[in-house]
Amino acid sequence: TRLVVLVSGGGSNLAALLARHDDPAYGARVVGVVTDRPDAGALDLAQEAGVPTAVVVPGDFEDRPAWNRGVAEAIAVFSPDLVVLAGFMRILSPVVVDRFSIVNTHPALLPSFPGAHGVRDALAYGVKVTGCTVHVVDAGVDTGPILAQAAVPVLDDDDESTLHERIKVAERSLLVETVGRAAREGLAVEEGRARIG
Ligand code: GRF
Repeated sequence: TRLVVLVSGGGSNLAALLARHDDPAYGARVVGVVTDRPDAGALDLAQEAGVPTAVVVPGDFEDRPAWNRGVAEAIAVFSPDLVVLAGFMRILSPVVVDRFSIVNTHPALLPSFPGAHGVRDALAYGVKVTGCTVHVVDAGVDTGPILAQAAVPVLDDDDESTLHERIKVAERSLLVETVGRAAREGLAVEEGRARIG
């Protein structure tokens, strides 16, 4: 299975996928990495792993629809079977979402705390348990059918970064395990529910 991974940041989730992608038993290879950020640390990880990259910067396009078309074309070049959003911090339009099978990882237990600050919002709310979610991307923001979740405790002295780091430990393995299963067994969405196998 050919994976294209979209990133905006350091790429710890991408690193976890790259660590497995040479394992024939895993069933999925990262064939391309696409980012909106020329300075994304994840680009270095991709280059070190010999994975081709594409940088599609919103500012280089006359408007957001043109940027979405650029992202769709950049992904299509790699002929993916599955697209993985791993710390990608932009909202994708139907031009992208309707064209590819896409999964996303979010650092909270959806439907709680969607959006760009899920870790900060969970901490501010005072929950004792948060976690991470892998879900199929639909036209909404963090709203698609859920594939897998993992719970992570919130400690009394946590701040956003200590909590996010703890979530990321669970998130990396949840994403690798879920993407691997989807690659080996197939992924389908029926009546708004996602099913692997
Ligand atoms: C991940 O926790 C992801 O869920 C969130 O931002 C973080 C990105 O981390 N959107 P990385 O770039 O994979 O290290």
